[in-house]
Amino acid sequence: MHFLTDRGFNHPHASEITPRRAYDSRRDVLKLLATGAAGATMAAWAGREARAQATRPGRLAALPAARSALAGGVTMEKLTPYADLTTYNNFYEFGTDKGDPAQNAHTLKIRPWTVAVEGEVKKPKVFDIDELLKLSPMEERVYRLRCVEGWSMVVPWVGYSLAELIKRVEPTGNAKFVEFVTLADPKTMPFVGSRVLEWPYIEGLRMDEAMHPLTLLAFGLYGEVLPNQSGAPVRAVVPWKYGFKSGKSIVKIRFTDKQPATSWVKSASQEYGFYSNVNPGVDHPRWSQATERRIGEDGLLAKKRATLPFNGYEPQVGQLYAGMDLKKFY
Ligand code: MTE
Repeated sequence: MHFLTDRGFNHPHASEITPRRAYDSRRDVLKLLATGAAGATMAAWAGREARAQATRPGRLAALPAARSALAGGVTMEKLTPYADLTTYNNFYEFGTDKGDPAQNAHTLKIRPWTVAVEGEVKKPKVFDIDELLKLSPMEERVYRLRCVEGWSMVVPWVGYSLAELIKRVEPTGNAKFVEFVTLADPKTMPFVGSRVLEWPYIEGLRMDEAMHPLTLLAFGLYGEVLPNQSGAPVRAVVPWKYGFKSGKSIVKIRFTDKQPATSWVKSASQEYGFYSNVNPGVDHPRWSQATERRIGEDGLLAKKRATLPFNGYEPQVGQLYAGMDLKKFY
């Protein structure tokens, strides 16, 4: 796989799906398109791009996906290496230290697995995970994820827009919010029962947020199925919100007319609001949200990078909040 990296060696963690060369050639192609001379170059670029997508750590089952063409669907920032993003996790069901989920989540049983879709919908249904996997074509989305604790990462997720699932169950006019209920199994999750949070871990979105094409139902990352610690077998990814909005290991998706009571709001509503849009202008009560560190890249002594409003997705999602006081609805 040496042709996939521009570092001249075969990195075991496949830290970048699309190397610099491919990005550069993409820019070249855009230039050529502008001059109307793209033909052969386009074909060569497409081939290289397809090979680039095949890069995967080779640890788990492959989950191939076409690269997303959605606006905001693929950030060109450097990917966070697989080894870093899978060993520095928040998944409190497996412990509260960042290293705990990678250590402990091997006990999670991801088959059989079902996701019940219910509430204010015309066609409620319990989906088997293997049916969900085939519901819509898989896309590779490269998103930034910003945790409320001040770290961030760039991940090549594999999945499809949550809207694809929502359309199929036909929400009623009463569906104003979506609630995500995640697994709480004390037999396989050693910290379920601890008093750090109420279980199950629950998150939620407003209906228009859930329907936004950037809201992803993710089944994989780096071209493979999700490792357990990252929320196998299915999780949400909402790239313009703090990471805790992205519930892992989802077992139920419920449509409601009322704003769901979400886990972090229930346990510390002064610190974690329902909206939780990434906002450098609204500090967490105990620390600033103006800057962030990229895991695996920015060491403790490195200068932090500026956090962007809506985590950089303002062009795509800003209009969802037109007229809202985002300091009040933090
Ligand atoms: N989902 C569940 N079920 N349990 C959790 O503890 N933690 C959240 C979110 N989803 C969490 C969860 C938080 S705080 C963050 S920052 C992201 O998952 C982290 O996702 P990652 O482990 O892929 O980085």
